[in-house]
Amino acid sequence: MIKLGVNIDHVATLRQARMNIEPEPVTAARIAEKAGADGITIHLREDRRHIQDKDVYDIKKAVSIPLNLEMACSDDIINIAIDVHPNTCTIVPEKRQEITTEGGLDAAGQYHLVADTVAKLQEKGIKVSLFIEPDKMQIEAAKKIGAEYIEIHTGLYANTESEAQKRELNRIKEAAVYAHSLGLIVNAGHGLNYTNTQSIAAVPYMHEFNIGHSIISRAVFTGLEEAVKEMIKIVKK
Ligand code: PXP
Repeated sequence: MIKLGVNIDHVATLRQARMNIEPEPVTAARIAEKAGADGITIHLREDRRHIQDKDVYDIKKAVSIPLNLEMACSDDIINIAIDVHPNTCTIVPEKRQEITTEGGLDAAGQYHLVADTVAKLQEKGIKVSLFIEPDKMQIEAAKKIGAEYIEIHTGLYANTESEAQKRELNRIKEAAVYAHSLGLIVNAGHGLNYTNTQSIAAVPYMHEFNIGHSIISRAVFTGLEEAVKEMIKIVKK
């Protein structure tokens, strides 16, 4: 059965909008665990726009399901990862001005940088996943680097329609089959939502999906009615 890793970055995005204490990502992590999530995913970005260093430590302590830390190849963050010891680290590319992670890691082009980061984490017993495009060259680089997992970037699939989306779905299928044949464990994520996830779930050898934005967006509306009712009780007392 495919596992679900819940990415709670955008709970922190909302908190950072006010630089306040609510909503707390650690509470979101606990709720996701209680709801049956198989893991919690957080991205400690270099610009700290959502998740903060303290969140990483707090969340690791608060949940008993595996923590997956998304991170760039940056010494500062490698040190935090080694200190916190998440179950897995997913290496992602990072550009300061991007709205979200745009495209997969160039594991082939940045081979030495990525291999060095992976080695530092694995040396401390942390398993590593590489967030890459569904591309043969990137999969082969991930294998050569010695990553345990790849996470196939589903962003292009999520952002296209009809024939272009079918083509991308096929590329993802071929990539999953190839990566599995090399002994890599295959995850997927980015842009997956309540309507486009089913087709990706039908791709062979999928191990885990990391889904964030659509779950947090849905939670706003599934929770809003209750939140308004609670405030009405206070206001109209
Ligand atoms: N996987 C990776 C590697 C990501 O960088 C992200 C976004 O932080 C996700 C999954 C989750 O993407 P989304 O928020 O679109 O579900």
